[in-house]
Amino acid sequence: MIQQIDASGKPSRQQTFGVAFVGSGSAQLKTVLSNDQLAAVVDTSDEWIATRTGIRQRHIAGPDESVRSLGAQAAAAAIAQANLAPADIDLILLATSTPDDLFGSACQIQHEIGASRAVAFDITAACSGFVFALVTAAQFIRTGAYKNVVVIGADVLSRLTDWRDRRTCVLFGDGAGAMVMQRCEESDRLLSFEMHSDGSLNDCLNATYQHESTPLADEVTTQKGGFVPITMNGREVYRFAVKRVPEVLEKALFHAGLSTSDIDWLILHQANQRILDAVAQRLGIPAERVVSNMAKHGNTDAASIPIAIDEWVRAGKIKPGDTLALSGFGAGLSWGAAILKWGQ
Ligand code: COA
Repeated sequence: MIQQIDASGKPSRQQTFGVAFVGSGSAQLKTVLSNDQLAAVVDTSDEWIATRTGIRQRHIAGPDESVRSLGAQAAAAAIAQANLAPADIDLILLATSTPDDLFGSACQIQHEIGASRAVAFDITAACSGFVFALVTAAQFIRTGAYKNVVVIGADVLSRLTDWRDRRTCVLFGDGAGAMVMQRCEESDRLLSFEMHSDGSLNDCLNATYQHESTPLADEVTTQKGGFVPITMNGREVYRFAVKRVPEVLEKALFHAGLSTSDIDWLILHQANQRILDAVAQRLGIPAERVVSNMAKHGNTDAASIPIAIDEWVRAGKIKPGDTLALSGFGAGLSWGAAILKWGQ
């Protein structure tokens, strides 16, 4: 067990376990939609999209792909990389805003991968979802409740996109990524975290339920409707991101006792290359330490951070012992950061 040191430097009575990050995985989607293809659908161009966002293409889930199938693919790959079997998994957390079933898709993934011992549930925090789920998983591991946890970020935003609205449809794509977190007796590799919400800015980014009153009985109506496509105040979200993301990373680094020069990889939610560049510049982090794959994937919501981690791990760029600074931000509005060391 890891001894917690209290403010006076004495070991406190409360003892907890540490967390290690031992595997990553992501789903391989079949269909790609390029900017040029999109320009045939709405009044836009590859040049506009690439210059304003850094996005060149995105993946779109086909009829046989879903949050369930993509999340399962990513989770299975992460479990294999961690040298575990599905039966070893105690907890599955699925960060998603587009479940196949509004009652949750985590249990569907649990069944699909054969993790029969695991308890599974969904977490909704949009593009902050993966960081919030990772922090939630750490609480269960630190208290000793669970040993092996799979955290998945999976979203099929193409379902919620208005493909006639050029201000939003050029941004989003579908995908899934996953990470295995494990109890560690020797050290705690989650060095710090920060999470924030500001519901007063909620109307900047929404996919709301809209309904009509339908009479049911005397003085009783039910509200029947459905979710409408994404609406966004792009400029407001941009302003929010370039202010809050550096701030939250600075706080998390302070709590970890680190400075920006200690970061090996800055892994932000892949919303817009200009946001990544502005945040990195404000923190003084050189471009070669900033992970960016949005040219290939667009904004995949809760999936973007675990996909980026997995691609960099499998390419041998992220190595055991590397310090990663993650930050998710988006609808809510919500934002958060986690500083961690990769590996056992
Ligand atoms: N293709 C061509 N022109 C477009 C376009 C598109 N896809 N989308 C918008 N335009 C036009 C606008 O109509 C506007 O034209 P006008 O000046 O004639 O009215 C012009 O381009 C500029 O629009 P504006 O909204 O000011 O562009 P921008 O530089 O702010 O970029 C975003 C728009 C959406 C790329 C940018 O605001 C952004 O990335 N915001 C953050 C969004 C985000 O990350 N959301 C997810 C958070 S998780």
